[in-house]
Amino acid sequence: MEKRVELYTGKAKSVFTTDDPDRYVMVFRNDTSAFDGKKKAQLDRKGMVNNKFNAFIMQQLAAAGIASHFEKLLSDNESLVKRLEMLPLECVVRNVAAGSICRRYGVQEGLELNPPTFEFFLKSDALGDPMVNEYHIRSFGWASQAQIDRMKELTFKINDVLKPLFQRGNMLLVDYKLEFGLFQGEVLLGDEFTPDGCRLWDKDTREKLDKDRFRQDLGNVVESYELVGKRLGVNFD
Ligand code: C5P
Repeated sequence: MEKRVELYTGKAKSVFTTDDPDRYVMVFRNDTSAFDGKKKAQLDRKGMVNNKFNAFIMQQLAAAGIASHFEKLLSDNESLVKRLEMLPLECVVRNVAAGSICRRYGVQEGLELNPPTFEFFLKSDALGDPMVNEYHIRSFGWASQAQIDRMKELTFKINDVLKPLFQRGNMLLVDYKLEFGLFQGEVLLGDEFTPDGCRLWDKDTREKLDKDRFRQDLGNVVESYELVGKRLGVNFD
């Protein structure tokens, strides 16, 4: 497999084509950003930590029968993935209230959400990722009803796998964002699952161990990501 041209550069990852038209190389960089790219930094070792963290989670999901674009680790900061036709949506499940849901509905951070709640957002930096409903998604043609149903089903199945996984590491999976795409007509999990796209709290102290450390200037960002990984059994060597 040969890495060829850079196709896309996101805020923290880049995607390269390969000699296989159905495979891409996803590169995790040390860049981090928050607040629609308004706050930015370079964090040593972040690319490596997130690449290995993501590989571990995708492998856990595969073992539980949930397919994703992830195929294998290629190096410290690169993974081989299937080429997906991405659906322009972000799927968020929340087990506990934090972040934007607290601002929107005036609820206290830490409120347990039973049942967990689900939200769709349109992936659009220019519009600030607005929340959208299923009618918007169908009326604007972003996805079909069958694809909407599959994204919701997979996002909740992933909660059933990851909540107990983090629980075993003495952590609370507060919320997370997933993105899906199509591969040969099938809806597959794409993008990444790392502490950049979820909230994780220590179960006893409620200490924040995710990207909120960067958003809120709490320090030790990469150290916390690595600690989370080590508690799950991720090998960063
Ligand atoms: O900001 P908000 O509370 O809506 O975020 C919910 C979850 O989705 C958080 O875990 C956050 O890190 C993640 N998220 C993300 N990328 C975005 C928006 C939210 O990873 N563009």
